[in-house]
Amino acid sequence: MSPLVWDLAHIANQEEQWLLRAVAGQEAIRPEIDSLYDAFEHPRSERPGLPLLAPDEARRYAADIRARALDVLQEAAFHGTRLTEAGFAFGMIAQHEQQHDETMLVTHQLRAGPQALTAPDPAPAPLFAGPAEALIPGGPFTMGTSSEPGPWTTNGPS
Ligand SMILES: [Fe+2]
Repeated sequence: MSPLVWDLAHIANQEEQWLLRAVAGQEAIRPEIDSLYDAFEHPRSERPGLPLLAPDEARRYAADIRARALDVLQEAAFHGTRLTEAGFAFGMIAQHEQQHDETMLVTHQLRAGPQALTAPDPAPAPLFAGPAEALIPGGPFTMGTSSEPGPWTTNGPS
């Protein structure tokens, strides 16, 4: 698995590259870190040895990029280019972050040692009034999505 701080800055770097640069035409904010967070250039096994941004710096970078991306989103026209048509690039970046959220959760689940994350207990879930079990008849089914799958339908570096 990647160091969690790699995922954090990688998410922001992809957001910067696609939404700020490709969609909005802005100049690179931290071009010197692009290659560090390029999943094709650095497989997971190499990432712990990279000179990654420290956690606080990665959080500041991610917050800065997110604020700028929300500004871009505010002014975006969802037509005109392949990236902007129907919000394609925005959907792609949202899906990309969700993929990494899952990857980061798996990283936490696989790790050993003392608890690394703490949070207050969640509010109790509302009681479910449906049956405890439901019979699903056997037969063919669609796994995943069958319409508008978006750009992240194949497995590749993440
Ligand atoms: Fe990724």
